[in-house]
Amino acid sequence: MLKTHLFLRILIPKKFFGEVVFLDKIKEVKAYQVLDSRGNPTLRVVVKTKKHSGYAFVPSGASKGLYEAAELRDGKKAYSGRGVEKAVDIIKKKISKKLKGMRVVNQEDVDLELKRMDSTENKSRLGANTILGVSLAVSRAAADYKKKELYEYIAELFGNKNKPVMPVPQANVLNGGEHAGNYLKVQEFLLLPTRAKSFADATRMVCETYHVLKRIIDDKYGVNATNVGDEGGFAPPLRTPEEALDLVSKAIARAGYKRKIRLGLDVAASSIYYEDEYDIGASFSAKGLMRYYERLLGKYDIKSIEDPFDQDDHEAWAEFMRTVAKQRKVQVVGDDLTVSSPHRVRMAVNNELCNAMILKPNQIGTLSEALKAARIAMEAGWEVIVSHRSGDTEDPFIADLAVGIGASQIKLGAPCRGERTSKYNRLLEIEADLKRRVYAGKKLRF
Ligand code: PGA
Ligand code: ZN
Repeated sequence: MLKTHLFLRILIPKKFFGEVVFLDKIKEVKAYQVLDSRGNPTLRVVVKTKKHSGYAFVPSGASKGLYEAAELRDGKKAYSGRGVEKAVDIIKKKISKKLKGMRVVNQEDVDLELKRMDSTENKSRLGANTILGVSLAVSRAAADYKKKELYEYIAELFGNKNKPVMPVPQANVLNGGEHAGNYLKVQEFLLLPTRAKSFADATRMVCETYHVLKRIIDDKYGVNATNVGDEGGFAPPLRTPEEALDLVSKAIARAGYKRKIRLGLDVAASSIYYEDEYDIGASFSAKGLMRYYERLLGKYDIKSIEDPFDQDDHEAWAEFMRTVAKQRKVQVVGDDLTVSSPHRVRMAVNNELCNAMILKPNQIGTLSEALKAARIAMEAGWEVIVSHRSGDTEDPFIADLAVGIGASQIKLGAPCRGERTSKYNRLLEIEADLKRRVYAGKKLRF
């Protein structure tokens, strides 16, 4: 083997030989314990080949689904147990050695090797955070090697040959639930600027409305109420969903965007489900909650509802889809329900539990599996909404992911706080550089 290798090296000009055989092989995988936007430790991973490299940061959720892949945390005194030094060690000592020599362009092979090394159902041995950091950094190194923008490389991996689509932002401007220190039970109130001309236009509409909302909150609740929650949205002392929806609707109208910006909710209902009852401010059974949603849909311009029921309350999801969603043409989004897992998405497609999914790579742990989940959803005619996490970083990976796979929407928080604006800013850059592209708002069913 070694002899043939040397022989070929002599025969084939070095430049040509080097490019094809050597330059995309992994030389080293580095890892660092750094911080996420909540001041918790997280990972930064760097994958190096001879001449190229790729990095990635790993985000972390607060309202996690029961079926998400598991994060590895140190559980020691430092950082209240949330350190990731073990993960850093695993990458430096085990993963780097194992992946050495593999080609960064073979994403699926790398991801399979990582899964094989972990060998658990939920990636708990190495940690989904550990695995994801490596998986994403490998894809960036491959894009670098191929001299492609990351979104172009992801499009190639995904087999997306369509004209690039700029996603509709879902901007979370009022924060509640586990993302804010208030009594609001619904986690997110989202602006969906569907009638914008472009992503840049959508960003302007979101920012203008966000600032009007700030003034309305200041006038009504005082300046202390304009502090922001984990995703950059305001977190005023509200209690009921109606109070929040009144505020946001007023801000949209005042900013001049009635019917141009539609509304979305992320109820994150798994976090408010207690023994068959949903506590959304008042207590409801699943049927009662369904009727409550129907009233909200009649009164407000809501077009999208994420996690309206608990992740295991499948009967409620299915009935909601058959009845309310059908009549009102509302987008029903699985997040904790589907957890970006090909297996769970397939189950939800087969049982018609929703018609859209959230795509968060850290819920499943590898880029290949996240892409597979998105493919199953798109083939079923669902919308795919790429999403940040409430604990996020300056890494704009999800912006490229959304454009690469042609997702119609992206959840990226309010246009405030660096870890949120990094995604807006990357999308603004991508859009400005693209000559031919469409804005997804035109294609949405609502
Ligand atoms: P998380 O919330 O990142 O805290 O899980 C986001 C969401 O539920 O969509
Ligand atoms: Zn959610």
